[in-house]
Amino acid sequence: MANSPSGDSVTERLLRVLETFTPTRTVQSASEIGRRAHLPSSTAHRFIGELVETGLLERDEDHRIRVGMRLWELATRSSAALRLRQAAMPAMERVQARIGEHTQLAILEQGEALFLERLSSPDATSNVTRIAGRLPLNASSSGLVLLAYAPAELQERVMAGPLVALTRATIVEPAALRRKLAEVRRLGHALAPGFIEEVATGLAVPVRDPSGAVVAALSVVIARDAAVDAPLAALHRAARDIRVALESRAGGMGRVAASALA
Ligand code: PHB
Repeated sequence: MANSPSGDSVTERLLRVLETFTPTRTVQSASEIGRRAHLPSSTAHRFIGELVETGLLERDEDHRIRVGMRLWELATRSSAALRLRQAAMPAMERVQARIGEHTQLAILEQGEALFLERLSSPDATSNVTRIAGRLPLNASSSGLVLLAYAPAELQERVMAGPLVALTRATIVEPAALRRKLAEVRRLGHALAPGFIEEVATGLAVPVRDPSGAVVAALSVVIARDAAVDAPLAALHRAARDIRVALESRAGGMGRVAASALA
């Protein structure tokens, strides 16, 4: 890949530009993108112009830039994550209808919990997760499940820190985190009372593919002091249903999902 005079490759530059977009910053001027991506102004304008021409970025009538539908289309159509989400959707809808609280599906992605889907309801408990948003592994119930079943090497890397506290309840002591992960494996679920927000408890279970490998975490966020038995039963049942749905999909979906997360 051709390198610029500053030595970065086109791929690195593209990634830096795309990473300037966030869940709360979806529209920017070309100059803002250039500054945030550390590109010289003329380079930024030329490069962004090329990306607009290919459809990876789009320009609105005020000349502001947003992520293009073409990028969404290319990223989505062959995505293992999308197939996992589709297999999970009916079971997630059943959990959401039964419990009436936010229901999320997350996978392990580069040391964080990445949320593929979130079903909400108007009266649901407060919830900070967003679709395509991330939460730390040590802080969220989904993250704890994903970490508990992750390769030992990743567990050690996370344990080596830094472990970020989002509230006073978030586990930041490596020894305490180790004990929590053992508890998650023993119980088969993760309870995260007040770890992300003081007012909420996250509750998550592993989702397994037909081979038994954990490929995702399914969670609900409930009020801090709410009873956990009914949500837990609904989550376990849904996780079993998702495994069956993965099994019945053509083409060995489970293996695809597992390899996508490796
Ligand atoms: C959790 O999964 O633990 C969690 C996620 C989002 C929240 C609260 C808890 O807002």
